[in-house]
Amino acid sequence: MSPVFGLGVSDLWSWVLLLGLIYVMVKVYNLYLTWRELDKALRPFEGPKRHWLYGNAHEFLEERSDLDIMVRHAEQYPYSYPIWLGNFFAGLAVCHPEYAKAVLSRQDPKDAFSHYFITPWIGKGLLVLSGEKWFRHRRMLTPGFRYDVLTPYVTLMSDCVTIMLDKWERLIPDENPVELFHHVSLMTLDTIMKCAFSSHSSCQLDSESPYIKAVYELSRLVDHRFYFIPYHNDLIFHLSPHGYRFRKALKTAHEHTDKVIKERKQSLKNEMELEKIQKKRHLDFLDILLCAKDENGQGLCDEDLRAEVDTFMFEGHDTTASGISWTLYCLAKYPDYQEKCREEIRDVLGERTTVEWEDLSKLPFTTMCIKESMRLYPPVPEIARELKEPITFCDGRSLPKGINIFLSIYAINRCSSIWDDPEVFDPLRFSPENSFKRNSHAFLPFSAGGRNCIGQNFAMNEMKVAVALTLQRFELRPDPKREPKIVSQLVLRSLNGIYINLKKL
Ligand code: HEM
Repeated sequence: MSPVFGLGVSDLWSWVLLLGLIYVMVKVYNLYLTWRELDKALRPFEGPKRHWLYGNAHEFLEERSDLDIMVRHAEQYPYSYPIWLGNFFAGLAVCHPEYAKAVLSRQDPKDAFSHYFITPWIGKGLLVLSGEKWFRHRRMLTPGFRYDVLTPYVTLMSDCVTIMLDKWERLIPDENPVELFHHVSLMTLDTIMKCAFSSHSSCQLDSESPYIKAVYELSRLVDHRFYFIPYHNDLIFHLSPHGYRFRKALKTAHEHTDKVIKERKQSLKNEMELEKIQKKRHLDFLDILLCAKDENGQGLCDEDLRAEVDTFMFEGHDTTASGISWTLYCLAKYPDYQEKCREEIRDVLGERTTVEWEDLSKLPFTTMCIKESMRLYPPVPEIARELKEPITFCDGRSLPKGINIFLSIYAINRCSSIWDDPEVFDPLRFSPENSFKRNSHAFLPFSAGGRNCIGQNFAMNEMKVAVALTLQRFELRPDPKREPKIVSQLVLRSLNGIYINLKKL
């Protein structure tokens, strides 16, 4: 056999084996260090027993819903408890308002894991950015949610809801109960397209538009990847049929966004001042993005523009679809509250079949029902952070930097130490007197602090419009045969859909 660089083949193999062994030993040692650091950091926090190999991961595989597990643990460990997925990935689950306050009053970045699967689609937009760049973008985009920008959206929201209700009216002689989530999410997609980009896509009637199909496909595939553990591996996902579909949808979505931005840039060529545009027509989110300048007069580059547009498409439709669908479900289950809302809505709208900006503040009971639904069914059930500095909580316990925090909005909302009879749907919890008595961080559907939801007023308006027009036209009744199975898939959904019976009034 011929020698290689003066070494015999057997010598070469010995070297390869030795290097391989050293590599494995370094890896094992690093894993040991990771485990030791995590174990030391999380030791002060009592929590559920963990398996020597899986940690707490097997609990989530064995039980029906990880959300139920979170609530059960939150009852037993009322502030927080460690969660171990295997031996080398762990974090602190937070389930108390005071702990949430400590976390949300800081500027820690989002954890690397939870947004990893969406980033190929939404890029580095507001949702995933951190530090200086996040601050710059947030300042530039905040004017997009000013009162005068949001006001004309209410009519557009009304139009989109009306299209959905007309569709339901045609549907119900043959198809009752109706699965809400699908219809509502097409409606919220239509709304965000109209409000944010002045795009009149008619996607509710013609879901064949390649862009709408791509957005829908991307939302579903991101969820699927999140829950199908082998797809967490980039290579396996890339080679899978789902990975192929994801890349195809991604290409369609990005090409569309690039085209929309290019066309708008072209049409705004000579008029990059918001006041001038506003004199001619109502502003949309794309105008705000294109005209936004930081304190140095710098606008957003093309890549950042696309990331923000895609972030709004993602954040702005599935979340509100979840909020509206669960609220209608709750009102179907509680006919007395449904009727009380309907009376309030009739008093405000009379014979009108559209909602206007001025109406929105005249629906206090309906708003309380929406909030109570978001308590029981928070559209964003959990958020996560990675500590960039050590943190000390109200009870003196602390964590070093680098530890992941999983803040369970769902568990806080259903904990008996925070809410009396937490499983009971009681809108009066949100009466002004009762809201005042509560801890400021007990109800966090839109998170809190500097990184709260920038779209929360938009979302509340859309939910009020949808609930008002639906109750004006239909009576809602639950479908006892199909109780929804709650699942957290980026937003709160139901595994078997959300079905209700509709009766035209
Ligand atoms: C019911 C509807 C909605 C709910 C419950 C909701 C909830 C949330 C929550 C909990 C966060 C914090 C996420 C985190 O810290 O990881 C967030 C952030 C965000 N939301 Fe919403 N959201 C809703 C609707 C919307 C809408 C309609 C838009 C846009 C039009 C929007 C845009 C955003 C953006 C851009 C962020 C990131 C903000 C930042 O980090 O500065 N959301 N939302």
